[in-house]
Amino acid sequence: MARHIALLICSLVAMAGSNPIDVDCTRRQDFNIVKDCCAYPTFRFDQFKSQCGNYMPVGAPRISPCLYECIFNETNTVVDGAIHPDKARLMLEKLFGNQDFEEAYLNGLMSCSDSVQEMISNRRPRPQRKTEQCSPFALFYGVCAQRYVFNHCPSSSWSGTESCEMVRLQNMNCSKSSRGSSHRL
Ligand SMILES: *[C@@H]1O[C@H](CO)[C@@H](O)[C@H](O)[C@H]1NC(C)=O
Ligand SMILES: *[C@@H]1O[C@H](CO)[C@@H](O)[C@H](O)[C@H]1NC(C)=O
Repeated sequence: MARHIALLICSLVAMAGSNPIDVDCTRRQDFNIVKDCCAYPTFRFDQFKSQCGNYMPVGAPRISPCLYECIFNETNTVVDGAIHPDKARLMLEKLFGNQDFEEAYLNGLMSCSDSVQEMISNRRPRPQRKTEQCSPFALFYGVCAQRYVFNHCPSSSWSGTESCEMVRLQNMNCSKSSRGSSHRL
């Protein structure tokens, strides 16, 4: 695999030397490829069971706004509307227990405030969810950080296939509006 990556890097560098790399921004990202590119660690939500167990119904996906908000609240990760690095680090240590990923997620969270603002202002009203009591702020940070970690996946956890490299190039070089994205949490 290392040789494969080296070859790919060589060919990318060679191409960059002659003419710009052709990143096709209109190509749709195939979720079945994307999901295997970075071997994300498991979120250890059970670490927050005693405080946030209410928001972890059995069998439901662990991506609700309230669960994320509860975890952010319990760890005081947001101070004056911004991610506090030391608190966020403690939260990530509890959540992952994997240093490489803690670092990547922390860098992600720290660089996500603009994206989160954008997600909040682009949010479509969802009348059918009037009962949702929590703000999506923390969840949006999670979504943004997850995307950041994809693009900065620790190399030992990155699959490095050509299709994954292409998705990463697309993420880094195409504006959101031009990208046919199907990348989900
Ligand atoms: C794609 O993005 C990377 C990282 O930002 C940059 O180094 C590279 O030059 C970009 N390539 C193209 C074709 O825009
Ligand atoms: C988190 O804290 C805010 C501010 O104190 C509060 O309004 C909100 O209800 C809390 N959310 C959860 C899920 O505990």
